[in-house]
Amino acid sequence: MSALEIQNIRKSYGAVDTLKGIDIALQSGEFLVLLGSSGCGKSTLLNIIAGLAEATSGDIKIGDRSIIGVHPKDRDIAMVFQSYALYPNLSVRRNIGFGLEMRKVPLAVREKAVLDAAKLLQIEPLLDRKPSQLSGGQRQRVAIGRALVRKPQVFLFDEPLSNLDAKLRLEMRTELKRLHQMLKTTVVYVTHDQIEAMTLATRIAVMKDGRIEQLGTPEEIYNQPATLYVAGFVGAPPMNILDVEVDNGALAIVGSDIRLPLPDRFKPIARDGARLALGIRPEALRLAPSASQAAGITLPVRIEVVELTGPELVATARAGQQRLTACLAPRTKVGQGDVTAFSADDDALHLFDPATGRACPA
Ligand SMILES: Nc1ncnc2c1ncn2[C@@H]1O[C@H](COP(=O)(O)OP(=O)(O)OP(=O)(O)O)[C@@H](O)[C@H]1O
Ligand SMILES: [Mg+2]
Repeated sequence: MSALEIQNIRKSYGAVDTLKGIDIALQSGEFLVLLGSSGCGKSTLLNIIAGLAEATSGDIKIGDRSIIGVHPKDRDIAMVFQSYALYPNLSVRRNIGFGLEMRKVPLAVREKAVLDAAKLLQIEPLLDRKPSQLSGGQRQRVAIGRALVRKPQVFLFDEPLSNLDAKLRLEMRTELKRLHQMLKTTVVYVTHDQIEAMTLATRIAVMKDGRIEQLGTPEEIYNQPATLYVAGFVGAPPMNILDVEVDNGALAIVGSDIRLPLPDRFKPIARDGARLALGIRPEALRLAPSASQAAGITLPVRIEVVELTGPELVATARAGQQRLTACLAPRTKVGQGDVTAFSADDDALHLFDPATGRACPA
């Protein structure tokens, strides 16, 4: 039995189909991240789970119980919003305990729950302040505290860190991970930040236009992207995509005379003459001035721009007419205008069918 099961959820606003059939089954304690660009339907799905919006069709179950039609407050779910939605006139203490107060939980039980949550979130000294006397990160903790005290079956988070500055985001991200490791509650978390998704999730659902493009562990999403969209969305800088043609068991870089050996695993499926998209992550490329690579590929390039970010040297180059990026070690000796070569291991190569956008099975 799944902790949370989303079955063929569809949502239309008039003629516009916002969700086009979403299926996800979560085990207890999973941390699912819904990842996708603005407007793909992440919040809509979260709101349907919370009961704040109604699905056009489909079912949602917690354990073996359908929660469609169940009042939001009876769903055993707690939601944390992007805008913390704290009550400005109430102290932190009462903000955290408000849900319990509404449910007429006895004062002593309430106070203990608030204190426990405050300790967990390290905001005990702030309990008697008003939200206006808190920093953004502290307000976010209070909002999380309010969800924590309810001890729900499922936590829902809608971009909870997007109002914080970069440093605080990082801190709160680690904090959330720590909390989840301690509480082991099932979580559905919405973000369009791929690093947040990669670091927090046990599984990621990459969404596009109301559909799930790929559902998998962070490793699967990163190492075996199922579509060009997923390949481009996860990873920064994004995966290089080169236009290639299968030619006599080799991959010819279109618009050049560069030919790469076709890895064995693709031989059964790469038809001669097929135009494909070759994907290579920037961090999978190394500088290889001599074609001495025993295994893998060597790609002749001309360096156009070199940027030192600190931890790495980002080199933008051309292979024939096509541009690609490599993330190299910071002390790599390479400069603008150099004619050199990049190398990569065989298993770093991805092939996609540009017509369907789908990865070619290896
Ligand atoms: N009440 C509504 N009426 C009509 N269309 C809506 C309504 N709510 C959402 N939509 C549309 O549904 C689509 C998905 O919206 P949703 O808020 O779920 O996106 P999102 O993935 O959360 O985006 P963001 O990252 O910007 O928050 C959008 O195109 C949006 O315009
Ligand atoms: Mg949203």
